[in-house]
Amino acid sequence: MAPTKTPVIIDTDPGVDDITAILLALASPELEILAFIVSFGNTDIESSYLNILKTYQALTRHFAENPSDEERFPNFFSSIKPILARGCDGPLEGDLHSAQYFHGRDGLGGIAERHPDLNVVGIQQAGESHPQLNLSGQSGVDVALDLIRTRSSRSITYVALGPLTTLARMMRLDAKLVRDRLGQVVCMGGALDVPGNTSPVAEFNFFADPYAVKELLISSEHHTGLPLDRFIMLPLDITTPHELPFPSYKAKIDPSFDSSAAPSVADGKLPLTHFTSSFLERTREIMLQFGKDAMELHDIVAVWCAIENPPGLSLSDGWKARSRLFDIERAGELTRGMLVVDRREDESAYSPGANRAEIQAELEKLAFHHGSWESTALPAQVEIERAASPTTRPVASGVVCITETPGPEVLLDLLFRRVWGV
Ligand SMILES: *[C@@H]1O[C@H](CO)[C@@H](O)[C@H](O)[C@H]1NC(C)=O
Repeated sequence: MAPTKTPVIIDTDPGVDDITAILLALASPELEILAFIVSFGNTDIESSYLNILKTYQALTRHFAENPSDEERFPNFFSSIKPILARGCDGPLEGDLHSAQYFHGRDGLGGIAERHPDLNVVGIQQAGESHPQLNLSGQSGVDVALDLIRTRSSRSITYVALGPLTTLARMMRLDAKLVRDRLGQVVCMGGALDVPGNTSPVAEFNFFADPYAVKELLISSEHHTGLPLDRFIMLPLDITTPHELPFPSYKAKIDPSFDSSAAPSVADGKLPLTHFTSSFLERTREIMLQFGKDAMELHDIVAVWCAIENPPGLSLSDGWKARSRLFDIERAGELTRGMLVVDRREDESAYSPGANRAEIQAELEKLAFHHGSWESTALPAQVEIERAASPTTRPVASGVVCITETPGPEVLLDLLFRRVWGV
């Protein structure tokens, strides 16, 4: 029996790591891509939309020159065209922020200006006939709800690579449908025990729409969000140690790869390599300013998780998770999007009398870099006087967070093999 594919809806705000993640999804026979729902986030929604079309255009050019590579991308030639639709163009509430400082104004490190040869020519409007995509004028919210309604129950994995706004709007529109029939959500977002990447305390996707996170993940008496037994979160804690070192990219894929000061030249290069080098060259420059000659594979880890963990099954070998209690700050002066982790019931948060060296070794294995001044003493608990009874305290439910993957080397190997064929 042929193994069944996991149907996925990819909700994305395509900047550089999203596009790399989408290339991996297109090259992964375990998945069937039903739709790309693009939203605001890394860039604005129109650039997001164009970045999907640019990716398809680059692959089309690549296969025209290298037909034998077609079999590496089974989802590019699927019999049912994935729908491309627009999701939300701003958060449920609060100010609109994007990560254009990192991803460039167009989401792909400014390739629109530096590499006009990669801009989309021709088809781009809803209703026009695209050879591989179904360009839909319907809202992404409706498209996703329709797919969940019509596909077999609990079969779909919703892969959330951007802000959770579209998913929150789907829940507002038809919570029962989503709860009854969605297979699972795999979500890249949040920072638990590590610094944020948008502010000292917040990860970008959760920062971009903390109201959506609150609605979906934090239950109160008045409201229950997503079914948390079918929600898998990949916070920065686990995604950051997965990286693509640029020296390896240069060695294995593009020997002329440098920086946007020496932009990629299409001549004599595989079209797919020219495309990826054209956005990675700017990413490399920015990462070097942060002191790292590598791209962090945040969204790529999430797609990998969806590939290896179909809905309805326990996590496959090499993947581990732990349920975490937290709430999210929506409007803090300095703390928007911060996960306020409730460690009060977490025995591992305090370890009076524990062997500090052993704990430190464990933390280092998990890539935590704690300072040496932390106290392991148990602080006295101070209860704030409450007018209401203690049971009215809103209880944050546990969210399943991935704590272990098969390893960064395994992912890098998979990515190189599937996307670039090396
Ligand atoms: C395109 O997607 C729409 C949903 O937005 C669907 O109704 C239509 O049948 C699809 N068309 C094709 C050709 O697949």
